[in-house]
Amino acid sequence: MGELYASCTRFLNGHGARQPDRVLSDIVDELGDFHIDTYGDGGVVADLEAEACELLGKPAAVFMPSGTMAQQIAMRIHADRTGRDVLLWHPTCHLALHEGEAVVRLHRLQPRPVGNTHRLITMADLEEVAEYAAVLLLELPQREIGGQLPEWDDLVAQTGLARSHGTATHLDGARLLESLPFYQRTAAEVAALFDSVYLSLYKGIGGLAGCVLAGDEQLVVEAREWRRRHGGTLFRLWPYAAAGLAALRRRGPRIPRYVEHARAIAAELATLEEVTVVPDPPVTNMAHLHIETEGEAFKAAARSLAIEDKIWTWGYAQPTALPDRVAVELVVGDATLDWPPEEVRGMLALLIERALSRPDD
Ligand SMILES: Cc1ncc(COP(=O)(O)O)c(C=O)c1O
Repeated sequence: MGELYASCTRFLNGHGARQPDRVLSDIVDELGDFHIDTYGDGGVVADLEAEACELLGKPAAVFMPSGTMAQQIAMRIHADRTGRDVLLWHPTCHLALHEGEAVVRLHRLQPRPVGNTHRLITMADLEEVAEYAAVLLLELPQREIGGQLPEWDDLVAQTGLARSHGTATHLDGARLLESLPFYQRTAAEVAALFDSVYLSLYKGIGGLAGCVLAGDEQLVVEAREWRRRHGGTLFRLWPYAAAGLAALRRRGPRIPRYVEHARAIAAELATLEEVTVVPDPPVTNMAHLHIETEGEAFKAAARSLAIEDKIWTWGYAQPTALPDRVAVELVVGDATLDWPPEEVRGMLALLIERALSRPDD
């Protein structure tokens, strides 16, 4: 995908391909003068951590080079604190699917998936869990099912139940900012339901990589120690922290526009017979498009669009439970704002048509 992606001039998803000079000039434009850190102490890393505390309404926050590292660390600290080892989470959360069973292999913890793969966790799912767990991890929005969000009252009830059992609550808020227009609440109001919160710096807001982990002072002091143990306290962390802070300031305020545009695009796409939007309407800046087509043919059509028209759409098409449908993810960012919804509809219709007319190999 690398070279072909980089050769494109228009991008449907996210913020498009940004060259290094542009990334660096964005940082300088946004932050002006800033200072470097040493092993994560001081400079722009501390500035970012202070801003994250303010945003999330938590006493302390620490920069982490990846969400993968941050959340393993949060799970470990909560398990140590509670003296329990069971982790409750959705069957499709990032730790369950994409981290090589790290919490089991590295920390000897015991995941217990709750609820059904295809829908959000419900109160009834949680009430079925007889044991008292170390942590309840909720992912907002639930990415693998198109970015769905529980109603506010459900969120309050579920975190309340966990807390009444002495279970810590942790928020996988990789895309927390993208969830706020739905709740019409501040990040701090949502974060208040959780003992620890992880916020990505590169997903919706488009930094380089990394995240912040926020919570009480003691949790964050311990998390810093664990970051060193995990090899995450690099000699200089400032490039990631600076890119993250600049992205937070620059794109944080744009998120409501992304969400609105995602809804407008989804409304257009839902009129295509072959397309089902999940969730419909979208509640964040993302949605999954389930498309009645054959995966390889769809990928080939997307590839030819990239080669011939320099338009990058998707480099993959995920299989779904239905053999005649594939799924792709729509994520609205700066690049998507350049696409009127009708144009996206036309482009997707073209891809489907090309996929259907692809001669058998
Ligand atoms: C919901 C969610 N949580 C955690 C992560 C992990 O983030 P990182 O890539 O920073 O390790 C991701 C990454 O895609 C994610 O989507």
